[in-house]
Amino acid sequence: MPQTPNLEREMPALDQSSGSPPPSGPCIMVIFGGTGDLTARKLFPALYNLAKSKLLSPDFAVVGVGRNDYTHEQYRQIMSEKLQTFATGAMDPELSKWLISRVSYVGGEFHDPQLYTRVAQTLAVVDKTYNTQGNYFFYLATSPSFFGNIAEQLGAAGLVCEKDGQWRRVVFEKPFGNDLVSARALNRQVLKVLHENQVFRIDHYLGKETVQNILVFRFSNGIFEPIWNRRYIDHIQITVAETVGVEKRGGYFDMAGTLRDMVPNHLFQLVSLTTMEPPISFSSGSVHDEQSKILHAIQPFDAEDVLHYAVRGQYGPGVCKGERVPAYRAEEGVPPDSKTETFIALRLMIDNWRWAGVPFYLRTGKRLPRRYTEVAVQFKRAPLVLFRDTPVSNLDANQLVIHIAPDEGLSLRFGAKVPGAQMKVGPVEMNFNYSDYFGTSANTGYEVLLYDGIMGDQTLYQRADMVEAGWAVVDPVLDVWKALPARNFPNYASGSWGPEEANGLIARDGRSWRKIAE
Ligand code: BG6
Repeated sequence: MPQTPNLEREMPALDQSSGSPPPSGPCIMVIFGGTGDLTARKLFPALYNLAKSKLLSPDFAVVGVGRNDYTHEQYRQIMSEKLQTFATGAMDPELSKWLISRVSYVGGEFHDPQLYTRVAQTLAVVDKTYNTQGNYFFYLATSPSFFGNIAEQLGAAGLVCEKDGQWRRVVFEKPFGNDLVSARALNRQVLKVLHENQVFRIDHYLGKETVQNILVFRFSNGIFEPIWNRRYIDHIQITVAETVGVEKRGGYFDMAGTLRDMVPNHLFQLVSLTTMEPPISFSSGSVHDEQSKILHAIQPFDAEDVLHYAVRGQYGPGVCKGERVPAYRAEEGVPPDSKTETFIALRLMIDNWRWAGVPFYLRTGKRLPRRYTEVAVQFKRAPLVLFRDTPVSNLDANQLVIHIAPDEGLSLRFGAKVPGAQMKVGPVEMNFNYSDYFGTSANTGYEVLLYDGIMGDQTLYQRADMVEAGWAVVDPVLDVWKALPARNFPNYASGSWGPEEANGLIARDGRSWRKIAE
């Protein structure tokens, strides 16, 4: 029998401020991959932050599941130290002790059926001890290769069966599949043991305030929606720039590459929220229906399109944020002749009435000069330069930029008269910065996702058809790139904005990438 976990500690008294959401209901969060990086860096700090914001039930417990052979006490000790290291702000020692006191551990191999028997035994004990009412929130923070098998084994062990008002949910980290065929197969495997309403496919971009704000901005303000279409918008650019290389993830990353790692998930979330039709409500089904429609409306690439509208790059050595950094091929876990891309640029078209003819330019890469994420909406120019007999011969286009990271906010660029006797027009900006209005709150980005998952709200998670639609768009690009491995890698220096071909991709349409201050 598993050891009985520590029973003594009570949650520090809750001070319920009015207007805040209710604490989540009783449950046990069961983390497969409990000894991994994500658990230490994001999940535990997020749980602590939720407890601090009074959003965690007093009847809450955690069971870590991992391959190491730890006792409950050893695991608690490790997680307590990690929590100190990765906490996002000053910690209340009583609260962190409360959280850690509710943690248990089960060790074993994920493919071993006996592991699930031990998990079930531990859950039964923890459930009684902490009054978690048989509600289990499984979180698969493991390598994706285990997802299907863990789901099946949870099913076989009877752990995901919902009865007598108990709920059972399973969160799947990304990537969900590595192409359309594997994503479909994984969906089939998972949906044999779980109902879609028990499946939570995570994309941490949806945990970002500014990403959620795209919908609020579009659908709670009357003045933007009427111009949010092909009649007024010239094109949209999405940039997700990172300064980091592949760090310690060379092994995973070299199998995936930037296209798989970033596009069907994070970038397509930004595309779909920016372009979807207004949902009939903010229920998860209505929001997902509209996102799914947009993903299905992205014009499919044929092989010829891939050659014209998709660019790949791989970083060589260079200087990034003032530091000399090695080439991708010299990173730990990366083969010296790797053909894996660390940068992509794409041009997409969306085949519906709102967006017909409006190009979407997407770029993302590692070892770029600055960590920076934005969605830039470029409007069409004024139809005519009206300033006859003045030096004004050209007008800039209006631009609305949604800043997602590291600054969070919006800016609108428009033309204004430059003071003086002569008629001159210059670009000026109106800026809204989230932190100026709402202050900053340190968080990991996982808080809202965990809270929603425990509350059973799937809006910020991905439905099966959305994941598959994302893969369907990138699959032809993956196929062509596989058939024609890049011959010119590395083709951009670390600390630059990517390969020259990326400029060519947008320049062919007579446009250019927005200049981002470094
Ligand atoms: C992850 C990718 O999903 O997102 C990483 O696997 C990437 O390669 C990361 O670095 C970027 O996330 P963020 O929140 O830092 O933009």
